[in-house]
Amino acid sequence: AFTPRVFSGIQPSGGLTLGNYLGALKRFVDTQESGGIETIYCLVDLHAITVWQDPEKLTRATREMAAGFLASGVDPAKSILFNQSQVPAHAQLAWIFNCVARLGWMQRMTQFKDKAGKNSENVSLGLFGYPALMAADILVYHATHVPVGEDQKQHVELTRDIAIKFNNDYGVEFFPVPEPVIEGAATRVMSLRDGSKKMSKSDPSDMSRINLTDDPDTISKKIRKAKTDPEPLPETVEGLDGRPEARNLVNIYAALAELTPEQVIAEHGGQQFGTFKPSLADLAVAKLSPLTAEMGRLMQDPAEIDRILADGARRADAIAAPILQKTYEIVGM
Ligand code: ADP
Ligand code: NA
Repeated sequence: AFTPRVFSGIQPSGGLTLGNYLGALKRFVDTQESGGIETIYCLVDLHAITVWQDPEKLTRATREMAAGFLASGVDPAKSILFNQSQVPAHAQLAWIFNCVARLGWMQRMTQFKDKAGKNSENVSLGLFGYPALMAADILVYHATHVPVGEDQKQHVELTRDIAIKFNNDYGVEFFPVPEPVIEGAATRVMSLRDGSKKMSKSDPSDMSRINLTDDPDTISKKIRKAKTDPEPLPETVEGLDGRPEARNLVNIYAALAELTPEQVIAEHGGQQFGTFKPSLADLAVAKLSPLTAEMGRLMQDPAEIDRILADGARRADAIAAPILQKTYEIVGM
Protein backbone atom coordinates (compact mmCIF):
# COMPACT_ATOMS: atom_id res chain seq x y z
CA ALA A 1 0.00 0.00 0.00
CA PHE A 2 1.13 3.51 -0.80
CA THR A 3 1.06 6.41 1.63
CA PRO A 4 -1.69 8.81 0.49
CA ARG A 5 -0.18 11.81 -1.27
CA VAL A 6 -1.80 14.55 -3.34
CA PHE A 7 -0.30 16.08 -6.49
CA SER A 8 -1.81 18.64 -8.84
CA GLY A 9 -0.65 21.41 -11.16
CA ILE A 10 -1.73 24.42 -13.18
CA GLN A 11 -0.10 25.74 -16.37
CA PRO A 12 1.40 29.23 -16.13
CA SER A 13 0.11 29.98 -19.61
CA GLY A 14 -1.74 33.15 -18.61
CA GLY A 15 -3.59 34.55 -15.63
CA LEU A 16 -5.67 32.45 -13.24
CA THR A 17 -9.42 32.31 -13.85
CA LEU A 18 -12.37 31.75 -11.55
CA GLY A 19 -12.48 28.24 -13.11
CA ASN A 20 -8.94 27.53 -11.93
CA TYR A 21 -9.75 29.00 -8.52
CA LEU A 22 -12.95 27.02 -7.88
CA GLY A 23 -11.99 23.86 -9.80
CA ALA A 24 -8.42 23.66 -8.52
CA LEU A 25 -6.88 26.24 -6.15
CA LYS A 26 -9.67 26.44 -3.59
CA ARG A 27 -9.77 22.65 -3.43
CA PHE A 28 -5.98 22.47 -3.11
CA VAL A 29 -6.26 24.66 -0.03
CA ASP A 30 -9.17 22.67 1.42
CA THR A 31 -7.12 19.47 1.05
CA GLN A 32 -4.06 21.10 2.58
CA GLU A 33 -6.14 22.29 5.56
CA SER A 34 -7.91 18.98 6.06
CA GLY A 35 -4.51 17.66 7.16
CA GLY A 36 -3.24 14.10 7.32
CA ILE A 37 -2.14 13.99 3.68
CA GLU A 38 0.96 15.37 2.03
CA THR A 39 0.12 17.98 -0.65
CA ILE A 40 2.37 18.82 -3.60
CA TYR A 41 1.35 21.63 -5.97
CA CYS A 42 3.16 22.56 -9.15
CA LEU A 43 3.27 25.34 -11.73
CA VAL A 44 3.61 23.21 -14.85
CA ASP A 45 5.69 25.39 -17.14
CA LEU A 46 6.85 22.43 -19.26
CA HIS A 47 3.18 21.90 -20.13
CA ALA A 48 2.68 25.59 -20.88
CA ILE A 49 5.34 25.58 -23.64
CA THR A 50 3.54 22.84 -25.58
CA VAL A 51 2.00 25.91 -27.24
CA TRP A 52 4.09 29.02 -27.94
CA GLN A 53 4.82 31.21 -24.90
CA ASP A 54 6.62 34.52 -25.07
CA PRO A 55 9.64 34.00 -22.74
CA GLU A 56 9.20 37.21 -20.74
CA LYS A 57 5.49 36.59 -20.35
CA LEU A 58 6.13 33.01 -19.22
CA THR A 59 8.49 34.22 -16.49
CA ARG A 60 5.96 36.78 -15.33
CA ALA A 61 2.99 34.39 -15.55
CA THR A 62 4.90 31.83 -13.48
CA ARG A 63 5.51 34.34 -10.67
CA GLU A 64 1.96 35.66 -10.92
CA MET A 65 0.55 32.16 -10.69
CA ALA A 66 2.73 31.42 -7.66
CA ALA A 67 1.32 34.61 -6.12
CA GLY A 68 -2.18 33.31 -6.94
CA PHE A 69 -1.50 30.01 -5.18
CA LEU A 70 -0.11 31.78 -2.11
CA ALA A 71 -2.90 34.38 -2.00
CA SER A 72 -5.50 31.59 -2.25
CA GLY A 73 -4.03 30.02 0.87
CA VAL A 74 -1.52 27.45 -0.37
CA ASP A 75 0.95 27.60 2.52
CA PRO A 76 4.57 26.63 1.78
CA ALA A 77 4.90 25.49 5.40
CA LYS A 78 2.13 22.92 4.82
CA SER A 79 2.40 22.12 1.08
CA ILE A 80 5.23 21.86 -1.41
CA LEU A 81 4.83 24.59 -4.07
CA PHE A 82 7.29 24.69 -6.96
CA ASN A 83 7.89 25.15 -10.66
CA GLN A 84 8.02 21.97 -12.77
CA SER A 85 11.11 22.80 -14.85
CA GLN A 86 13.13 23.21 -11.63
CA VAL A 87 12.81 19.49 -10.83
CA PRO A 88 14.45 17.54 -13.68
CA ALA A 89 12.91 14.18 -12.74
CA HIS A 90 9.58 15.20 -14.34
CA ALA A 91 11.07 15.39 -17.85
CA GLN A 92 13.26 12.34 -17.24
CA LEU A 93 10.38 10.11 -16.14
CA ALA A 94 8.24 11.50 -18.98
CA TRP A 95 10.70 10.00 -21.48
CA ILE A 96 10.34 6.56 -19.89
CA PHE A 97 6.56 6.97 -20.05
CA ASN A 98 6.75 8.01 -23.71
CA CYS A 99 8.14 4.52 -24.22
CA VAL A 100 5.38 2.88 -22.11
CA ALA A 101 2.31 4.74 -23.44
CA ARG A 102 0.91 3.54 -26.77
CA LEU A 103 0.32 5.84 -29.71
CA GLY A 104 -3.33 4.74 -29.88
CA TRP A 105 -3.91 5.79 -26.27
CA MET A 106 -2.61 9.27 -26.96
CA GLN A 107 -4.65 9.59 -30.15
CA ARG A 108 -7.83 9.16 -28.10
CA MET A 109 -7.17 12.20 -25.88
CA THR A 110 -10.02 14.65 -26.45
CA GLN A 111 -8.08 17.67 -25.15
CA PHE A 112 -5.41 17.10 -27.81
CA LYS A 113 -8.07 16.82 -30.50
CA ASP A 114 -9.73 20.04 -29.24
CA LYS A 115 -6.47 21.97 -28.97
CA ALA A 116 -4.98 20.72 -32.23
CA GLY A 117 -8.21 21.16 -34.15
CA LYS A 118 -7.93 20.73 -37.91
CA ASN A 119 -4.31 21.82 -37.79
CA SER A 120 -2.92 18.69 -36.11
CA GLU A 121 0.02 18.36 -38.54
CA ASN A 122 1.39 21.65 -37.33
CA VAL A 123 1.15 21.46 -33.53
CA SER A 124 4.15 20.59 -31.38
CA LEU A 125 5.05 17.00 -30.61
CA GLY A 126 5.00 18.14 -26.97
CA LEU A 127 1.28 18.92 -27.16
CA PHE A 128 0.66 15.33 -28.26
CA GLY A 129 2.91 13.91 -25.53
CA TYR A 130 1.49 16.20 -22.80
CA PRO A 131 -0.46 13.41 -21.03
CA ALA A 132 2.69 11.27 -20.62
CA LEU A 133 4.43 14.23 -18.98
CA MET A 134 1.38 14.68 -16.76
CA ALA A 135 1.62 11.00 -15.77
CA ALA A 136 5.27 11.61 -14.85
CA ASP A 137 4.33 14.70 -12.79
CA ILE A 138 1.98 12.59 -10.70
CA LEU A 139 3.87 9.31 -10.50
CA VAL A 140 7.33 10.74 -9.83
CA TYR A 141 5.92 11.50 -6.34
CA HIS A 142 4.03 8.21 -6.09
CA ALA A 143 0.97 10.44 -5.69
CA THR A 144 -2.27 8.58 -4.99
CA HIS A 145 -4.83 11.38 -5.37
CA VAL A 146 -5.10 14.06 -8.05
CA PRO A 147 -7.61 16.89 -7.47
CA VAL A 148 -8.57 18.23 -10.90
CA GLY A 149 -11.46 19.72 -12.85
CA GLU A 150 -13.65 17.55 -15.05
CA ASP A 151 -11.57 18.38 -18.15
CA GLN A 152 -8.53 16.52 -16.76
CA LYS A 153 -10.31 13.26 -15.95
CA GLN A 154 -9.22 11.53 -19.16
CA HIS A 155 -5.58 12.47 -18.54
CA VAL A 156 -5.65 11.00 -15.04
CA GLU A 157 -7.16 7.83 -16.50
CA LEU A 158 -4.25 7.67 -18.95
CA THR A 159 -1.90 8.07 -15.98
CA ARG A 160 -3.54 5.04 -14.40
CA ASP A 161 -3.07 3.06 -17.63
CA ILE A 162 0.61 4.02 -17.76
CA ALA A 163 1.17 3.02 -14.11
CA ILE A 164 -0.54 -0.35 -14.68
CA LYS A 165 1.36 -1.05 -17.92
CA PHE A 166 4.72 -0.12 -16.39
CA ASN A 167 4.06 -2.38 -13.40
CA ASN A 168 2.98 -5.24 -15.69
CA ASP A 169 5.79 -4.83 -18.22
CA TYR A 170 8.46 -4.93 -15.52
CA GLY A 171 6.69 -7.30 -13.12
CA VAL A 172 6.76 -4.84 -10.23
CA GLU A 173 4.26 -3.07 -7.96
CA PHE A 174 6.25 0.14 -8.17
CA PHE A 175 3.83 2.88 -9.23
CA PRO A 176 0.52 3.50 -7.45
CA VAL A 177 -2.59 3.71 -9.61
CA PRO A 178 -3.79 7.22 -8.70
CA GLU A 179 -7.38 8.37 -8.30
CA PRO A 180 -8.75 11.57 -9.85
CA VAL A 181 -10.58 13.63 -7.22
CA ILE A 182 -13.36 15.56 -8.96
CA GLU A 183 -15.82 16.93 -6.45
CA GLY A 184 -17.78 20.03 -5.49
CA ALA A 185 -20.17 22.31 -7.37
CA ALA A 186 -17.50 23.79 -9.64
CA THR A 187 -15.63 20.96 -11.31
CA ARG A 188 -16.53 22.52 -14.66
CA VAL A 189 -17.04 26.30 -14.56
CA MET A 190 -18.37 27.37 -17.95
CA SER A 191 -17.64 30.43 -20.08
CA LEU A 192 -19.81 33.46 -19.21
CA ARG A 193 -20.43 33.98 -22.93
CA ASP A 194 -21.15 30.39 -24.02
CA GLY A 195 -22.63 27.77 -21.70
CA SER A 196 -21.22 24.95 -23.81
CA LYS A 197 -17.54 25.92 -23.38
CA LYS A 198 -15.46 25.78 -20.21
CA MET A 199 -14.12 28.99 -18.73
CA SER A 200 -10.45 29.09 -19.74
CA LYS A 201 -7.49 31.41 -19.50
CA SER A 202 -6.84 30.69 -23.17
CA ASP A 203 -10.30 31.81 -24.44
CA PRO A 204 -9.75 34.83 -26.74
CA SER A 205 -12.71 36.71 -25.17
CA ASP A 206 -11.87 38.34 -21.83
CA MET A 207 -15.62 38.74 -21.13
CA SER A 208 -15.90 34.93 -21.07
CA ARG A 209 -13.98 34.61 -17.82
CA ILE A 210 -13.31 36.23 -14.48
CA ASN A 211 -9.58 36.65 -13.90
CA LEU A 212 -8.20 36.66 -10.37
CA THR A 213 -6.60 40.00 -11.24
CA ASP A 214 -9.92 41.65 -12.25
CA ASP A 215 -11.00 44.67 -10.15
CA PRO A 216 -14.48 44.75 -8.53
CA ASP A 217 -16.06 46.85 -11.32
CA THR A 218 -14.80 44.45 -13.97
CA ILE A 219 -16.08 41.40 -12.04
CA SER A 220 -19.51 43.01 -11.62
CA LYS A 221 -19.68 44.04 -15.27
CA LYS A 222 -18.76 40.55 -16.52
CA ILE A 223 -21.41 38.93 -14.32
CA ARG A 224 -24.05 41.51 -15.31
CA LYS A 225 -23.31 40.87 -19.00
CA ALA A 226 -23.09 37.08 -18.64
CA LYS A 227 -25.23 35.32 -21.22
CA THR A 228 -28.47 33.88 -19.78
CA ASP A 229 -31.92 32.86 -20.97
CA PRO A 230 -34.88 35.18 -20.17
CA GLU A 231 -36.57 32.89 -17.59
CA PRO A 232 -36.26 33.46 -13.83
CA LEU A 233 -34.28 30.93 -11.75
CA PRO A 234 -36.27 27.70 -11.28
CA GLU A 235 -37.74 26.64 -7.93
CA THR A 236 -35.84 23.32 -7.95
CA VAL A 237 -32.38 22.27 -9.25
CA GLU A 238 -34.07 19.90 -11.72
CA GLY A 239 -35.37 23.05 -13.40
CA LEU A 240 -31.74 23.86 -14.34
CA ASP A 241 -31.69 20.93 -16.79
CA GLY A 242 -31.29 22.26 -20.32
CA ARG A 243 -30.32 25.72 -18.98
CA PRO A 244 -26.49 25.59 -18.99
CA GLU A 245 -25.94 29.32 -18.38
CA ALA A 246 -28.34 29.44 -15.43
CA ARG A 247 -26.81 26.28 -13.99
CA ASN A 248 -23.33 27.73 -14.35
CA LEU A 249 -24.18 30.89 -12.39
CA VAL A 250 -25.88 28.82 -9.67
CA ASN A 251 -22.85 26.51 -9.46
CA ILE A 252 -20.46 29.46 -9.22
CA TYR A 253 -22.59 30.96 -6.44
CA ALA A 254 -22.65 27.62 -4.62
CA ALA A 255 -18.90 27.07 -4.84
CA LEU A 256 -18.08 30.64 -3.72
CA ALA A 257 -20.55 30.53 -0.82
CA GLU A 258 -19.63 26.93 0.11
CA LEU A 259 -23.24 25.86 -0.36
CA THR A 260 -24.83 23.14 -2.50
CA PRO A 261 -26.73 24.16 -5.66
CA GLU A 262 -29.90 22.96 -3.84
CA GLN A 263 -29.26 25.46 -1.04
CA VAL A 264 -28.69 28.27 -3.55
CA ILE A 265 -31.96 27.45 -5.31
CA ALA A 266 -33.78 27.24 -1.96
CA GLU A 267 -32.68 30.82 -1.31
CA HIS A 268 -32.78 32.36 -4.82
CA GLY A 269 -35.23 30.17 -6.79
CA GLY A 270 -37.84 32.27 -8.64
CA GLN A 271 -35.58 35.34 -8.86
CA GLN A 272 -35.01 37.16 -12.13
CA PHE A 273 -31.37 37.41 -13.26
CA GLY A 274 -31.70 41.16 -12.68
CA THR A 275 -31.84 40.28 -8.97
CA PHE A 276 -29.64 37.18 -8.85
CA LYS A 277 -26.71 38.56 -10.85
CA PRO A 278 -26.05 41.50 -8.49
CA SER A 279 -26.09 39.08 -5.50
CA LEU A 280 -23.63 36.86 -7.32
CA ALA A 281 -21.45 39.85 -8.25
CA ASP A 282 -21.36 41.03 -4.61
CA LEU A 283 -20.42 37.55 -3.44
CA ALA A 284 -17.70 37.18 -6.09
CA VAL A 285 -16.21 40.58 -5.26
CA ALA A 286 -16.29 39.84 -1.52
CA LYS A 287 -14.51 36.50 -2.00
CA LEU A 288 -12.06 37.51 -4.73
CA SER A 289 -10.98 41.06 -3.97
CA PRO A 290 -8.94 40.20 -0.84
CA LEU A 291 -7.21 37.57 -2.94
CA THR A 292 -6.52 40.04 -5.76
CA ALA A 293 -5.08 42.52 -3.27
CA GLU A 294 -2.82 39.88 -1.73
CA MET A 295 -1.59 38.79 -5.18
CA GLY A 296 -0.69 42.42 -5.92
CA ARG A 297 1.19 42.69 -2.64
CA LEU A 298 3.13 39.47 -3.28
CA MET A 299 4.02 40.59 -6.82
CA GLN A 300 5.83 43.60 -5.34
CA ASP A 301 8.54 41.20 -4.16
CA PRO A 302 9.38 38.76 -6.99
CA ALA A 303 12.60 37.70 -5.24
CA GLU A 304 10.57 36.37 -2.33
CA ILE A 305 8.35 34.39 -4.73
CA ASP A 306 11.46 32.96 -6.41
CA ARG A 307 12.85 32.02 -3.01
CA ILE A 308 9.63 30.16 -2.05
CA LEU A 309 9.64 28.31 -5.40
CA ALA A 310 13.33 27.37 -5.06
CA ASP A 311 12.72 26.01 -1.58
CA GLY A 312 9.71 24.03 -2.89
CA ALA A 313 11.82 22.64 -5.74
CA ARG A 314 14.45 21.38 -3.31
CA ARG A 315 11.82 19.59 -1.25
CA ALA A 316 10.10 18.17 -4.35
CA ASP A 317 13.43 16.96 -5.75
CA ALA A 318 14.18 15.13 -2.50
CA ILE A 319 11.07 12.98 -3.13
CA ALA A 320 11.30 12.69 -6.92
CA ALA A 321 15.01 11.96 -7.47
CA PRO A 322 15.06 8.63 -5.54
CA ILE A 323 11.84 7.48 -7.29
CA LEU A 324 13.39 8.28 -10.68
CA GLN A 325 16.59 6.47 -9.66
CA LYS A 326 14.62 3.38 -8.68
CA THR A 327 12.68 3.57 -11.96
CA TYR A 328 15.95 3.57 -13.91
CA GLU A 329 17.10 0.51 -11.96
CA ILE A 330 13.84 -1.32 -12.73
CA VAL A 331 14.25 -0.49 -16.43
CA GLY A 332 17.87 -1.70 -16.33
CA MET A 333 19.62 1.64 -16.68
P1 ADP B 1 -6.74 26.26 -18.29
O1 ADP B 1 -7.72 25.27 -18.86
O2 ADP B 1 -7.41 27.49 -17.71
O3 ADP B 1 -5.59 26.54 -19.20
P2 ADP B 1 -5.16 24.33 -16.82
O4 ADP B 1 -5.25 23.41 -18.00
O5 ADP B 1 -3.82 24.81 -16.41
O6 ADP B 1 -6.13 25.57 -17.01
O7 ADP B 1 -5.90 23.63 -15.62
C1 ADP B 1 -5.51 23.78 -14.27
C2 ADP B 1 -6.53 23.16 -13.35
O8 ADP B 1 -7.69 23.99 -13.32
C3 ADP B 1 -6.99 21.76 -13.76
O9 ADP B 1 -7.24 20.99 -12.60
C4 ADP B 1 -8.27 22.05 -14.47
O10 ADP B 1 -9.14 20.92 -14.45
C5 ADP B 1 -8.83 23.20 -13.65
N1 ADP B 1 -9.71 24.01 -14.46
C6 ADP B 1 -9.37 24.76 -15.53
N2 ADP B 1 -10.45 25.37 -16.04
C7 ADP B 1 -11.50 25.00 -15.25
C8 ADP B 1 -12.89 25.29 -15.27
N3 ADP B 1 -13.42 26.10 -16.18
N4 ADP B 1 -13.68 24.76 -14.30
C9 ADP B 1 -13.15 23.94 -13.35
N5 ADP B 1 -11.84 23.62 -13.29
C10 ADP B 1 -11.03 24.13 -14.23
NA1 NA C 1 -7.07 22.54 -18.86
